[in-house]
Amino acid sequence: MTDSRARPSGHRASRGNERSPLEPPVSEAGVARTYDRLAPLYDTLFGQVLEPGRKRMAELVRTLQPASLLEVGVGTGLALGGYPAECRIVGIDLSHDMLERARERAAALPQHHIAIEHMNAERMRFPDGAFDCVTLPYVLSVTPRPAELVREVRRVCKAEGTIIVLNHFSGSRLWWLLERAVRSAAEHVGFRSDFRYEEQILAHDWQVLGVEPVNLFGLSKLVVLRN
Ligand SMILES: C[S@@+](CC[C@H](N)C(=O)[O-])C[C@H]1O[C@@H](n2cnc3c(N)ncnc32)[C@H](O)[C@@H]1O
Repeated sequence: MTDSRARPSGHRASRGNERSPLEPPVSEAGVARTYDRLAPLYDTLFGQVLEPGRKRMAELVRTLQPASLLEVGVGTGLALGGYPAECRIVGIDLSHDMLERARERAAALPQHHIAIEHMNAERMRFPDGAFDCVTLPYVLSVTPRPAELVREVRRVCKAEGTIIVLNHFSGSRLWWLLERAVRSAAEHVGFRSDFRYEEQILAHDWQVLGVEPVNLFGLSKLVVLRN
C-alpha cells in the first residue's frame, strides 16, 4: 500500500500564520461540532440530492450479499434501509447528534441487524478483517486524515473484501465552479477543493473493480474496490 502520509492528502501550503502543511484542514472535534450542528437540517439539505448515489451503493451491496457490513460515517442513517436485512450491519460516526438520528432509523428497521456506535474511523476498535464489506458514503472528503481512514478501513475489511467509496472528487469544470460558489461553507461539509481521485483512490494499492458517475450531472463517483 502506498504510504500516503509522505504527502498528506487534503493539505495546502502554509503561508504566514496559516496552519502547517502537516496539520489536517479539519480536526476530529471540528467534524463532530459541524455535524452536531447540521444534524437537524442534514436530511433536508443532503437527503434527496445525494440519494441516487446511496441507492446505487445499496443496490450493489444487495448483489454482493455480504454477511457483515460496516458503514463509515453513517450520519443520520439514510443508507441503512437499502442494505440487505440478513446482513450484520454496524454504523459508526463522530457526531453524537447524527448518531441519535441513525439510531432512530435503525429502530424503525426491526428486520435488520444494525448496531450504531460512536467511533472515529481513523482509529477503529474493531479487530483486523472484521467485515466482508465496508461502505464510505460521502465521508472520505470530510474526515481529517483521509489516508489514515483508508488505512483503517483496509485493516478492518477482510482481505479480498469489498470497499465502496461514494464521494465527489475535484477536477471537473463543474466542480471547479461549484467549489467557488460555496467556498466559505464548503470545507466544513466536505467539498475540499483539492480532493482528487488520483490522490485519494489511485494512490493506494487496492484493486479498482469499477467506477461510475452518480447524482445530478454525475457530480459524485461510486468506486468499488477489492481490498
Ligand atoms: C457528509 S456526512 C455523510 C452521512 C451519510 N453517510 C450520508 O450518506 O448522508 C459525513 C459524516 O461522516 C462523519 N465523519 C467524518 N469523519 C469521520 C470519522 N473520522 N469517523 C467517523 N465519522 C466521521 C461525519 O460526522 C458525518 O456524519
